[in-house]
Amino acid sequence: MSNSFKITIHPYNREVTASPKTDFLDVLLQSGIKVESDCGGKGTCGKCRVKILSGKVKANPAHHKKHLSKSDIKSGVVLACQVKVLSNLEVKIEKLIESVIPKKSLNISQVSLKPEPLVKKLYIKLKPPSPEDTTPDLDRLLACLPVNTEVSDYNILPNLTEKIRQEDFKITAVTSGNRLLSVEPLDTTNQLYGIAFDLGTTTLMGALLDLNTGKTVQVLARDNPQMVFGSDVISRADYALKKKDGIFKLKQTLVKVLNDIINKLALLQNIKNDDIYEITVVGNTMMTHLFLGLNPYYLVRSPFISVHSKMLIFYARETGLEINSTGQVVVLPNVAAFVGSDILGALIACEFDRPEERTKLLIDLGTNSEIALSTKNRVLVCSTAAGPAFEGAHIKSGMRALEGAIENIELNYPPNLKVIGNSKPRGICGSGLVNIVAKFLDAGLISVSGRFTEISHWKGYPALINRFRKGGKTEYFIISHREHNAIDENIVLMQKDIRELQMAKAAIRAGISVLMKEVGVNYGDIDKVFLAGSFGNYIDPIMAIKIGLLPPVNPEIIQPTGNAAGEGAKWALVSRKALFKFTSLKKRIEYIELARKPEFREEYLKVLPFPDNNISWED
Ligand code: FES
Repeated sequence: MSNSFKITIHPYNREVTASPKTDFLDVLLQSGIKVESDCGGKGTCGKCRVKILSGKVKANPAHHKKHLSKSDIKSGVVLACQVKVLSNLEVKIEKLIESVIPKKSLNISQVSLKPEPLVKKLYIKLKPPSPEDTTPDLDRLLACLPVNTEVSDYNILPNLTEKIRQEDFKITAVTSGNRLLSVEPLDTTNQLYGIAFDLGTTTLMGALLDLNTGKTVQVLARDNPQMVFGSDVISRADYALKKKDGIFKLKQTLVKVLNDIINKLALLQNIKNDDIYEITVVGNTMMTHLFLGLNPYYLVRSPFISVHSKMLIFYARETGLEINSTGQVVVLPNVAAFVGSDILGALIACEFDRPEERTKLLIDLGTNSEIALSTKNRVLVCSTAAGPAFEGAHIKSGMRALEGAIENIELNYPPNLKVIGNSKPRGICGSGLVNIVAKFLDAGLISVSGRFTEISHWKGYPALINRFRKGGKTEYFIISHREHNAIDENIVLMQKDIRELQMAKAAIRAGISVLMKEVGVNYGDIDKVFLAGSFGNYIDPIMAIKIGLLPPVNPEIIQPTGNAAGEGAKWALVSRKALFKFTSLKKRIEYIELARKPEFREEYLKVLPFPDNNISWED
């Protein structure tokens, strides 16, 4: 038997080799080819479709039957994660991974804080030594710095003598708190930069800030390349724990793309990587664990223990990030296993740390949604598993909010569709799903229970009836016929999709209700609602209230916050005061574990139906 097989991969025309019986998804990942693999190779998402054009594989029948039609199987389609290589192969990737960067331009928002970063530069003209003054070089330098400045990094010492003398004793000392980080010849005080990173599960954002002015000078976003190991953090943890070198691979993949971002930001600003002395990092707890290469085993098992939760400061070289090697990386604190520093960052940016009379609510909508409620004296936070409906996953025609995603509908005939990028439709994004379901509810085509109503209730929309399909266990509405869209299949709203959305919105509303009960406030007491995260930017508050995703408040008090987590990371970079607010706010936060609250289940069941303020139809 051959020791390796030749695999030709289309449409890349790439040739790679694979050992016999290797998992085919691993072959693709190792060759750097990205395929959709939401479940990280467990065989449950059905996304990693490839077509075998020639050659033999051994396939696991159970998962194939579940996710592929008979005609798929007949035409050679397999799930890459469920087949092993048995011969030379020629394959075609069915679905290339989509770029997850939204088409909206990146917003360079400015921090409105007085710049007082942790890292500082100080220009010094040292007095040269003489027979009368034989003070050692380091002592001579430290004497010019604040009294308690100390050296804890050996790397400063080997070149210190040369650096001091290189420009006739004119130097710039770089410090962080009471630590001397570095010495640079001449006056370089005007070149001091930092990067704020928001490590999102799907998108990585990096903002370059001039630490002298506190201004954001460049912003870049990239897809999180860990997507190929699973679209959600639990699938990635699974990959990290089950695959050989899994933790290392996840960390390495992430650090590589973060370095790409660093290099590109430096290039765009025409500075050297060495001019960057500080990085602040926020992310959900799993993402920061994977960034640091920490074992997530106990993080994903009850009672969900993280390796760390405090703010951590490392030398950049210890993390693999390519800024000045003596610079520092500040990993901001987490609140709990499912409430990361990204939420803390969003809360800081929305000033939840300020004791004030107003009652504020912050909701970060996602697969794992976080909710925070603050009153004068208390800040409560919880996390609720809403599922991936808002990301377009587990929805038959779901997709992310990218070009081609249907984001709204008018129920004319044929329905008027609003599509991101005004292109041909390719699927329905999360906010589109909310809008479509809200419109169907309004029109009486869906009942409060979440079922499509009987055809007798469609009187106002007779022309739409021929788009409704009912049969056996499946009921669905054709939003866009295959001949009018960019994919080779109908774009549909399935009964099951409505159920997914119902469960997602119920998990969020029940979480909000539990927090409100805990502090004893009503919806009418809420003064402000912040919608964090990218989904929060797209969602129409009125439609979200209509389907019961958001509480029945005045829509005018609802404010999308953009990338509030990233803003928090920027604040921490620019201002020491803001940095330490992370620690003080974390101490004040009361984390409410919904799984331990029996009332969560009661509330969930109560809010599972859609609100009945729109329609009076019954099944
Ligand atoms: Fe293969 Fe999900 S089914 S990655």
